[in-house]
Amino acid sequence: MASGTSRDVLGRGLRVLGRAIREQPRIFAVAVSGSVLFGLLVIASAYVVGGVVGDVVVPAVERGEVARGALALAATALFGISVLRVVGIFGRRLGAGYMQYRLQAAYRRRVTRRYLELPLAWHHRNSTGTLLSNANSDVEAAWYPIAPLPFAVGTLVMLVGAVASLFFTDWALALVGLAVFPALFALNVVYSRRMAPRQARAQRLRAEVSGIAHESFDGALVVKTMGREAQETARFASRAGELRDALISVGRLRGVFDPMLETLPSLGTLAVLVVGALRLREGAITVTELVSVAFLFTVLAFPVRAIGWVLAELPRSVAGWDRVRRVLDATGEMPYGTTTLDPATREPATLAFDDVHFAYEPAEAHLPGAQVLGEVTFTVPAGKTVALVGPTGAGKSTIASLAVRLVDPGAGRITLDGVDVRELTAASLAATAALVAQVPFVFDDTVRANIALDRAGIGDDEVWAALRLAEADGFVAALPDGLDTMVGERGTSLSGGQRQRLTLARALAGRPRLLVLDDATSAVDPRVEAAILAGLRAPADGAPASILVVAYRRATIALADEVIYVEQGRVVARGTHTELLSTVPGYADLVTAYEQAEQEREQNRTYDEVTPLTSGLEVDR
Ligand SMILES: Nc1ncnc2c1ncn2[C@@H]1O[C@H](COP(=O)(O)OP(=O)(O)O)[C@@H](O)[C@H]1O
Ligand SMILES: [Mg+2]
Repeated sequence: MASGTSRDVLGRGLRVLGRAIREQPRIFAVAVSGSVLFGLLVIASAYVVGGVVGDVVVPAVERGEVARGALALAATALFGISVLRVVGIFGRRLGAGYMQYRLQAAYRRRVTRRYLELPLAWHHRNSTGTLLSNANSDVEAAWYPIAPLPFAVGTLVMLVGAVASLFFTDWALALVGLAVFPALFALNVVYSRRMAPRQARAQRLRAEVSGIAHESFDGALVVKTMGREAQETARFASRAGELRDALISVGRLRGVFDPMLETLPSLGTLAVLVVGALRLREGAITVTELVSVAFLFTVLAFPVRAIGWVLAELPRSVAGWDRVRRVLDATGEMPYGTTTLDPATREPATLAFDDVHFAYEPAEAHLPGAQVLGEVTFTVPAGKTVALVGPTGAGKSTIASLAVRLVDPGAGRITLDGVDVRELTAASLAATAALVAQVPFVFDDTVRANIALDRAGIGDDEVWAALRLAEADGFVAALPDGLDTMVGERGTSLSGGQRQRLTLARALAGRPRLLVLDDATSAVDPRVEAAILAGLRAPADGAPASILVVAYRRATIALADEVIYVEQGRVVARGTHTELLSTVPGYADLVTAYEQAEQEREQNRTYDEVTPLTSGLEVDR
């Protein structure tokens, strides 16, 4: 944990506050002005009250006559002070609120934008729970102290003003003030230092608790089918218990310090009365002055707490800020290039892998990453279809991700029409190559929105054309509202095969010149899958794409111009389906085994027969 010692938490916390002020200087100025106005009026009100007592109440008690003129003047002054105080409070609160929520919104936007910019490799290392808490509770925590900050700054000004006014009144009373105010300040500092580690721990545990909750809800199906409810509940309960203890220890500290912070000013008032009574007898001060100073001590007690609020929130703020900054400072290890491929061309693209090596980044930085691909070299010539076949874990999905540059190779080159994909702009890359992943992702939106994705030039005609190519026009036309049908969160109202075909149509609607299908039609009936691929190879409008397809089914593989057989991250053999069947035993075994499994599946009629409820619970990872 990066919380460090409490001393540097204070320093770093103040720097975080400084950043907030630099980002919202005008609003901060408004809030502080309101707060300073309030502080000065607090002092003024003490002197008016003192004046009322000394000049109106005392004579009234002693001589039984009420000085109506003085009373009216005092009443007017107090009323005026109250009105101005309202203005001050309003400015301070409004300014502080604006500043806090603006900063929160700004940083939420920055964090989420950064998430989308960061490469997939970064996302592999960070859980969804962490991402959520970075964008939510960490951003909030970072800016918590902003709410009391203007109040605290105004209070500091007020304290200086109060001490000055004390010296102006009487040196002996000023000494009491000089003893009490710094003591109050010191107590606040000690308090916040004690609080630092406790708050940091609570903040960390909050993130862990939400992480565990997220994981068990996300994997609800696994948890249920494997009967792991009790263990999951216990895992959650133990961490929730730690969070409870951490928060109780925060509360306990508060229970000790809060009363002390309340009491100190009262002791100050007592000291003022004792010292003041002596000074009054010596004739050094008047009743008015004594009452003013005593009253000042009482009304100062509350604002001084604002300093404590800021200091107490600093550790949490620093912890939250560290986590937010980790995201904002994370390097986009995949900068895009500046080259664009001819945007006008509709010709299929040529994809080439040249001696590509790849290792996933290790979970912890000091461990070596496991080599996943080595010496992978192959070409998908323009307009051709290449099938990628291999056992589970061979590296097919990794090759597919590399082809559309979701990840970069450790060594070697991947080129599109001869240009290294690292040199292409993001837009050119997206327009040229499209990946349809193994697990379809559907947005909670209409069918139309899911396919068009707000891309320019994709109207209903293009959407329908893409749906036809993906063999999805039939079921979409049969949906109650056609293209306007809402598909539900993660497409829960669709079967697995339907979702796969929608995501395929989404890729096709962009008319990519290279299509990478990573087992993208596995839940679709085999005959339909073959029909889709045949349609893609020779579309009605005569502009076929080059296709790299991860496939298992004989009918699909047989359509490919070339088959690349991979095992353990290496290209083991290449050739036509027929050639490989007769020359590569591993290949023949795999295709046959898959065919048998397929027949069983077909007997059980599992394709597209998945009920919406079950398919919605399918585990995506
Ligand atoms: N995000 C990841 N982090 C670490 N290792 C991974 C990751 N994804 C896949 N792997 C590993 O890389 C190898 C190849 O995986 P993958 O490309 O998904 O194979 P395939 O698609 O052929 O089943 C496997 O050993 C797998 O365990
Ligand atoms: Mg795969």
